[in-house]
Amino acid sequence: MCKAGRPDMKPAYPQAGSYPQFADLVDTERSQVDRKVFHDEAIYQAELRQIFGRAWLFLAHESQIPGAGDFVRTKMGEDDVIVVRQRDGKIGAFLNSCPHRGNRVCMVDAGKKARGFICNYHGWSFGIDGRLVGTDGKVYDTDPDFEKHAITLTPVAQVASYKGLVFGTFDPNAPSLADWFGPFTWYLDVMLDNDPEGTEFIGGCIRSEIECNWKFPAENFVGDILHAYWTHQSGAQAILGGGVDLGPQYDERAFQASIYGHGIETNLDKTGNTKTLGYPELVDYVFSQYDKAKDRLGETRARMVGAISSCTVFPNFSFLPGQATFRVWQPKGPNKIELYTWTLVNKSMPEHIKELYRRGTMMTFSPGGVFEMDDGENWEYCTKANEGWVTRHQPLHYALGISSKIDAPDLPGHIHRGSLNDANQRYFYTRWAEFMRFDNWSDLMTAETAPPAKAAPGVAAE
Ligand code: FES
Ligand SMILES: [Fe+2]
Repeated sequence: MCKAGRPDMKPAYPQAGSYPQFADLVDTERSQVDRKVFHDEAIYQAELRQIFGRAWLFLAHESQIPGAGDFVRTKMGEDDVIVVRQRDGKIGAFLNSCPHRGNRVCMVDAGKKARGFICNYHGWSFGIDGRLVGTDGKVYDTDPDFEKHAITLTPVAQVASYKGLVFGTFDPNAPSLADWFGPFTWYLDVMLDNDPEGTEFIGGCIRSEIECNWKFPAENFVGDILHAYWTHQSGAQAILGGGVDLGPQYDERAFQASIYGHGIETNLDKTGNTKTLGYPELVDYVFSQYDKAKDRLGETRARMVGAISSCTVFPNFSFLPGQATFRVWQPKGPNKIELYTWTLVNKSMPEHIKELYRRGTMMTFSPGGVFEMDDGENWEYCTKANEGWVTRHQPLHYALGISSKIDAPDLPGHIHRGSLNDANQRYFYTRWAEFMRFDNWSDLMTAETAPPAKAAPGVAAE
């Protein structure tokens, strides 16, 4: 660096590549997945580039940052990001890293009415729109070559909201958020639009670490109700006074749906998951709202509001509609995640009902919650055991329900009968492989996981 020239401070968004050798680790012909995808460092680095560098990732709920200058800090992959409400009401997101030497410019997790962010190291300060607004006031201001106007915190390339949920992508060429979801919004609306006043997060964010690969919890929520029968048996005994009943009668009313790797598995039992929060009053409340939800969403989706159901939005954002828990599995290397958890409720709910949801989610899906502890241990041992030198050469079995696909004209997406099924997990890994293989969005949006050519008549018919 002996020739001194002016830096080019324009934001740079890394391009995707193509990793067919990693994509081939998902064998869709045999419904099996190679264990390397859960521990290999090179694969993990490729995930950061191919998946977390391109996908729309969950950032925040709008209710967390209602006023100008309100902000939260989160992660996109391993990149630290500030999400902040602008003066014009829009939401901006920026890398939390000073363009001078890279220090964090924001150290706290959330705040209100910030006027800007000041770097601790040499004092550069940035407006809530990310622009450099000040330095130490002496040295830089007298340097004739210093181009203050050209310096900004790197903006997240695109930020958009869907019914209160804010997402961002580092890829300027990514399709719109609406296209990214496709008709999967039909299912998201079970949670986000069963009431005209919309939703909010309550009670802050809980963070905890689990020593597992990020894909284990994502695949669990995308379609593994099977584990509940066994893993959560004792927790269910404690709360419900009986085990989890997933017998044949249960599965007759259940299905799995997948679109672009996003997936939901659900029963139509109205309140199966809400019951596990342990408050009969909550179950009564969900029943009391059923007719209103039915008018708004139609019968199928109204039955899903409190049902035994779980969902992952590809790649790492998951929720349980009936239990009101929303979470992101933030990757921290191939063997660790930081779990961010929130409770989502309808704004119109009475305060005491909101409080019961908050307590119920803490009792079940928080670091001290009975179901979270059940799951976390399994995911940690899946991750550790898969690393064994001989173990890692053995395939994993994802073949439950390989002939269960059905034609379901009233349900958007790829539909499989019964939710005791690996179908959504197969789509999830197929999507993962598509992200590894393709370096462009036109291939990604027309790949095997794209929604089948049917007009989602369920939307119009109900
Ligand atoms: S690293 Fe931020 S001002 Fe120097
Ligand atoms: Fe679980």
